[in-house]
Amino acid sequence: VKIARTFAEARVHGPGLVGLVPTMGFLHEGHLSHVHAARAAGDATVMMSLFVNPLQFGPGEDLDRYPRDFDRDTALAEEAGVDVLFAPPVEEMFPTPPDTRVEVGGPASALEARSRPGHFGGVATVVTKLLAGLRPDRAYFGRKDAQQLAVVRRMVADLSFPVEIVGGPIIRHADGVALSSRNTFLSAGDRIAAAGLYRGLMAAADAVGAGERQGRALEARVRAELIGKPGVHVDYVELASADRVERLVELDRPAFLAVAARVGAVRLIDNVHFDPVDGDPGGGFVADRGIVLDTVSVLEVVG
Ligand code: PAF
Repeated sequence: VKIARTFAEARVHGPGLVGLVPTMGFLHEGHLSHVHAARAAGDATVMMSLFVNPLQFGPGEDLDRYPRDFDRDTALAEEAGVDVLFAPPVEEMFPTPPDTRVEVGGPASALEARSRPGHFGGVATVVTKLLAGLRPDRAYFGRKDAQQLAVVRRMVADLSFPVEIVGGPIIRHADGVALSSRNTFLSAGDRIAAAGLYRGLMAAADAVGAGERQGRALEARVRAELIGKPGVHVDYVELASADRVERLVELDRPAFLAVAARVGAVRLIDNVHFDPVDGDPGGGFVADRGIVLDTVSVLEVVG
């Protein structure tokens, strides 16, 4: 893997399509699954960016303690077949504090935005810099951050970026907990509680399979797994449309059921995505429950 510290260095690569996997490091199989997807899609150069973006952390959030391990990330990126690892110092990304920022509305106004004001503006600004500076043909984002994916898709459409945004499935540990760099801060007890998010979402997905369509009823399935559990504080549970991220009374279009909860000292988010089954006269929906790993995650064996 070639390590590039500047945009100019990163742009020196072979011919053909370029796929970009933007990350904040502390890699796990979720990130690595995008590298494999980029290869499978025919991207000749797979770039990964690794930058803990200060603009997307609010005061009192975990910027300082966000997990970082460059050697570990380099080894994992190399093994996964990343061609260029763009790991800029802050001075390359922000030589001076930026006077220009991307303002996002619509899908950036709900869910996470209520607890994390300014977060999506920070994400959009840094993603804009990555797209402008690295000029990929495709960029890969995980569906675990379903709202982020909606915001990035909307921004790319609104601002006419010549890039295809590709969403990848949620990758889960064997206990169902969605992979996240922040899982490293969960205690053994928290980890058991964290699996409640998955159980709740799967109960809701089962209910949809059995014909339930009411948003509140689906949300209640998730809450039932979390309310009253020691150390767990639910922030929100909401059924939202996949593109606009607007609350849905009824599941009647592509949507995701999202949950955010504090478990111990860690704020976790997770979701299950629903798509209408094409041509089904019964109005069926298929749930994307994510991919459950049957092997031990790299989060447990490396670092
Ligand atoms: O999803 C992330 O890791 C970050 O929000 C991203 C897209 C790399 C922007 O900093």
